Amino acid sequence: RKRTAILISGRGSNMTALIAAAANPDFPAEIVGVISDRSDAAGIGLAIARGIPAQVIPRADHASKEAHDAAIDAALAGLGTELVALAGYMRLLTTPFVEKWQGRMINIHPALLPAFKGLDTHRRALETGMRIHGCTVHFVTPAMDEGPIIAQAAVPVLLGDSEDALAARVLKAEHHIYPMALKLVAEGKARMAEGRTVFTGLAENDTLSG
Ligand code: GAR
Repeated sequence: RKRTAILISGRGSNMTALIAAAANPDFPAEIVGVISDRSDAAGIGLAIARGIPAQVIPRADHASKEAHDAAIDAALAGLGTELVALAGYMRLLTTPFVEKWQGRMINIHPALLPAFKGLDTHRRALETGMRIHGCTVHFVTPAMDEGPIIAQAAVPVLLGDSEDALAARVLKAEHHIYPMALKLVAEGKARMAEGRTVFTGLAENDTLSG
């Protein structure tokens, strides 16, 4: 089982979905630790309650972004990390850190990339008049929300949707596709090569959507 660490900044619902999937001994990844950049992240308590070691590495304790990422990298090494899953980690990682973990670090983004990179994706999808919205799991590369796509799920945008209602619908889909994508990466069935995702050992009619 691939030793997987999860980076969070807040609520931790995607983290919880990954921990739940990995609780099955047949799942090809095991969650070895959770790291938060924020001491007030609700996910820290959720991880500890599930027996997963969690540590806080605040940005304010470090002189620079580089030093902060170096501290995270040291913590990952301490956990014997093989894969990193960003789950609502709301800070841009520095290029040296991303390059070190490239192909071994994945992220979930609450939009159908390449649409709506960045923040406030649900509000922007509503403002744009999108009739379909969703979420994406992708390999992390230095340019934000631009790494090769592993899995996506689409949800309808309802005429009466509020931002919260739409976010909740997307979040449910996130909890479905994130464990699926981590499984593929941990099995080596989805890997990053020359800036693309290469799939092996899957059927031609597999969809990798939620
Ligand atoms: C999720 O919707 C995730 O896709 C998003 O933050 C939320 C975290 O919720 N991530 C980003 O916006 C990354 N830029 P969670 O802490 O309950 O998983």
